[in-house]
Amino acid sequence: MNPAATPQGVVAGSIPLFAGHPSLDLLPVDALQRVIAAAWQDSSVARFLNYGDEQGNPRLIDFLVERLNRRENLAISRENLMIIGGSTGGVGMIAQRLTTPGDAILVDAPSYRDALHIFRDHGLEMRSAPIDDDGIIVAELERNLRELAANGKTPRFYYVVPNFQNPSGIVMAVERRRAVIELSREYGFAIVEDDVYSDLRFKGDPLPSFYELAGGENVLRLGTFSKTLAPGLRIGWLIASAERITGFVESGLLRMGGGANPFSAAVVADYCRSGAWEAHIHWLRGQYRRRRDIALAALESCMPAGVEWTRPAGGYFIWLRLPPSAHVDALETRAKERGLYFASGKGIL
Ligand SMILES: Cc1ncc(COP(=O)(O)O)c(C=O)c1O
Repeated sequence: MNPAATPQGVVAGSIPLFAGHPSLDLLPVDALQRVIAAAWQDSSVARFLNYGDEQGNPRLIDFLVERLNRRENLAISRENLMIIGGSTGGVGMIAQRLTTPGDAILVDAPSYRDALHIFRDHGLEMRSAPIDDDGIIVAELERNLRELAANGKTPRFYYVVPNFQNPSGIVMAVERRRAVIELSREYGFAIVEDDVYSDLRFKGDPLPSFYELAGGENVLRLGTFSKTLAPGLRIGWLIASAERITGFVESGLLRMGGGANPFSAAVVADYCRSGAWEAHIHWLRGQYRRRRDIALAALESCMPAGVEWTRPAGGYFIWLRLPPSAHVDALETRAKERGLYFASGKGIL
């Protein structure tokens, strides 16, 4: 292992544009310190140092159910939501429980590289369809479905990052979401909606989620505190049908280890219920909008003709398209020499 590397290949002192990591100055360290100190003094702290409820911290579940129903056109109850070890924990659990090696799944091109790693770990056949500025090109998705059907295969699920996608920054249009839901009903595959950036919207109204548009039917939607609080807490949530949640909660994995990160979850529940999370999200939106504006202005003034890029209305990522004459490998090497790391389309396009 490279001693200069910190987690996930981020080299200390570099500018890691490829990683969905918040910069350390955006983490609410003082506020969390206060919540942790209070939790530590509480007589019930020992409970959170023990194994936790399989479904996760009940106070955090209730907080999230109320927030989601209030902000979106949803009518979920606590049976529809469980706490997980970040979105990553959910993707791993879903891959484990919904698939067997050799199964096919559908993904975007490009898609989130680390999720593809998990799918590869599970021996899944990944069928990708390209995206444009409105998300997946539905005719291409359908072509994949027909080809799979001709081989007697039904994909197990479509994995999608619908809002401010990693790595492109695009938001999938509502009509595309509806068309995908129709296909999911026709062909019988689930939709795994990895919705980790939706709270970081800089302007406009949020679009209805796949979960909402499908009335919750055959959609598993993931959320996380990693992008709007702190990834080191390793806390996220999964919304799905009550039957699916029960299936996960009763899995051997949770029976053996209990629910996700009980101490972190108790701290997050206290932090959220104090109103601090909402205020922090509001502040973060301004911080990320400013950073996005600086990055777009730099691209505008520095990029040569022929380079195109997305102008995301939220989230972490901007995606550049280079002219065919550009040599990405050479560019990557030169950027690394200057301490700048970016994600190229290799392996995800
Ligand atoms: C699309 C997407 N999903 C999931 C994650 C990881 O989320 P978590 O920290 O909740 O596991 C990331 C982080 O970069 C991401 O970009």
